[in-house]
Amino acid sequence: MAIRSENFLLRRYIEKAMVDLPAMPTTVLRVVKSIEEGDASASQIERIITGDAAITSKVLKTVNSPYFGMARQVTSITQAITILGMNQLRNVTLSIGVLNALSSTSPRIQAIQKSAWESSFASASCATRIAKAKGLSNTVVETALVGGLLHDIGQLFLLTLFNIPYTEVITRSRRLALPLHHVERQVLGTTHAELGASLGERWSFPADLVSMIRLHDGEIGAEDLTPSVACVHLADRIVNRIVNPDEPDIDARYPFDPNIVGWSGLTEEQFNEITEEVKGDIEKAKAVNVAD
Ligand SMILES: [Fe+2]
Repeated sequence: MAIRSENFLLRRYIEKAMVDLPAMPTTVLRVVKSIEEGDASASQIERIITGDAAITSKVLKTVNSPYFGMARQVTSITQAITILGMNQLRNVTLSIGVLNALSSTSPRIQAIQKSAWESSFASASCATRIAKAKGLSNTVVETALVGGLLHDIGQLFLLTLFNIPYTEVITRSRRLALPLHHVERQVLGTTHAELGASLGERWSFPADLVSMIRLHDGEIGAEDLTPSVACVHLADRIVNRIVNPDEPDIDARYPFDPNIVGWSGLTEEQFNEITEEVKGDIEKAKAVNVAD
């Protein structure tokens, strides 16, 4: 099928790069599937993870990173499950799988990835806070958390593998004060949200996670508006405003979907409160980082 895009060659390269990406490690898929199905015990999950030395060490390294703010060193997977719970462990394992597939040896790209992950952690915290403020169930809170964390994997993919042309797309959106996803569609014939959803499908992510990735830019019909999609859209917009404090056209570049804002029923005061809390979460993570 012919897809309209300004930069046809780039679009072709992107499609090829997606096909060439490494598969999600089997251990990651087994952990995610077992936790999703809900019938695995903690010791079964522990056995799956510890059967893979590389994943075990990455899980422990991630769990001990500043973002989790652990008071003590977590030294075993059993301990990680006890402290974080199964769903958080699933999120950590999925993130490790994504990082594994999108690894880069360039220090410049690594620095870009690091700041992209910082925004993802902030979005996870923000989506969780919105879901809680709305009084949604624990299941939705946890779904929103993983959505916040992984909704921008399409952007991570583009920043990692197509950094220079994708940076030009971002610059054009800034110069013309147009929504980033509109400029992406003009240039690439697709958006980072759609690319991320394709990656999620390729990596066998759960269906609700794929939806949150695909729909996080908003402009969606009522039939697609689920609470978790709404929380992730709002979190993405709020965090974009936090990380770009001096951006004059932020409302044009990352517009809120009015239907989702309407759905949230949150007042401006609540939005401001959540924004301040998320800023606090970011600072806390940074403060631990410095002390490390
Ligand atoms: Fe995004």
